[in-house]
Amino acid sequence: MYTTFKTLHSYWAYLLLVILLLAVFNALFGILKRREYTARDFRIALFALIISHIQFLLGLVLYFISPLFDLWSQGGVMGDAEKRLMLVEHPSINIIALILITIGYSKHKKKVSSTSKFKTVLIFYIIGLVFLLSRIPWDVWPNW
Ligand code: HEM
Repeated sequence: MYTTFKTLHSYWAYLLLVILLLAVFNALFGILKRREYTARDFRIALFALIISHIQFLLGLVLYFISPLFDLWSQGGVMGDAEKRLMLVEHPSINIIALILITIGYSKHKKKVSSTSKFKTVLIFYIIGLVFLLSRIPWDVWPNW
């Protein structure tokens, strides 16, 4: 079970980063080209939201079944940068990132003009993406 969730979480991270990059560039070009906001743009923003929430759920399960979790009972987590990254910073910063992406999605739906829809997606999704990238365990991932 642990290996399955870790593998799923690890590969799902690629999908999430690709769809978030697509959503950010799509919004950027939508603004630069003063394009009409279409159903396709809406679907990209929605898929990025759904895929990020699935990654959160995979991470949440992984958090409690990973052998890393046992480190809490041994103590010294906050004083160790690597342990603190995986047990505190990675989950918490990613949860903040997901909250920003979710706020951005619901705010952009309420916007009327195409430009303001694109701008809202661009701002919230790019901040979310930067937060995600800041706490990826780059020493173990990508592991190809
Ligand atoms: C939503 C954005 C997230 C992304 C993009 C992400 C990405 C990753 C990546 C790339 C790894 C390394 C996997 C590997 O070693 O091959 C990882 C590990 C891990 N993630 Fe996430 N994660 C996210 C959210 C979360 C959340 C919300 C939690 C917990 C609530 C979480 C818990 C974990 C844990 C515990 C590990 C280490 C598993 C282990 O080595 O035993 N992740 N994550």
